[in-house]
Amino acid sequence: MEVSDVEKDVTEILVSEEQIRSRLAELARQIETDYSGRDLLLVGVLKGAVMVMADLARELNRHVSMDWMAISSYGSGTTSSGVVRILKDLDTDISGKHVLVVEDIIDTGLTLSWLVANLRSRGPATVSICTLLRKPEAQRMTVEVRYVGFDIPNEFVVGYGLDYAEHFRNLRSVATLAPTVYS
Ligand code: PRP
Repeated sequence: MEVSDVEKDVTEILVSEEQIRSRLAELARQIETDYSGRDLLLVGVLKGAVMVMADLARELNRHVSMDWMAISSYGSGTTSSGVVRILKDLDTDISGKHVLVVEDIIDTGLTLSWLVANLRSRGPATVSICTLLRKPEAQRMTVEVRYVGFDIPNEFVVGYGLDYAEHFRNLRSVATLAPTVYS
């Protein structure tokens, strides 16, 4: 879906499809270098990370394994509740493995700080984070992030996996949601 398909619902394109593609290529080159000679397990966090996982994984010119977790920290609103629940756990035993968590966005940091602690308790060799988007102004928990696509302002954004009430995930770019949609 293009912004022109939902032009009344979004105010501006924050990160274009082309910017996402080229930044993911840069991150992929860094990841290839950093994990050279080591097995790598990508852990995608459903549902928002589906797009970045699909595109980052295909951009990597090496073997990777992929697994998924589903964690819920939001309802259908626009603010973080801080409540974290595992809806779907990994299929893989990660002990001794190099794990790279792939996320669409770090907002307050509550989800990722909880998730990293949870994964570390399972005895992996390393756990690092790759996120397409980060909102530094919204961050309430310090999360060490190794790979960041874009730092963005503290606005409600949708697209490229990010939803509002389950809509907009299939928008090709990342765009700011018009306040009329949620007010
Ligand atoms: C989003 C996003 C992160 C989390 C970030 O997921 O994918 O997992 O919120 O927010 P935080 O830093 O404030 O914790 P969400 O709970 O909306 O689920 P979804 O991926 O299924 O849309």
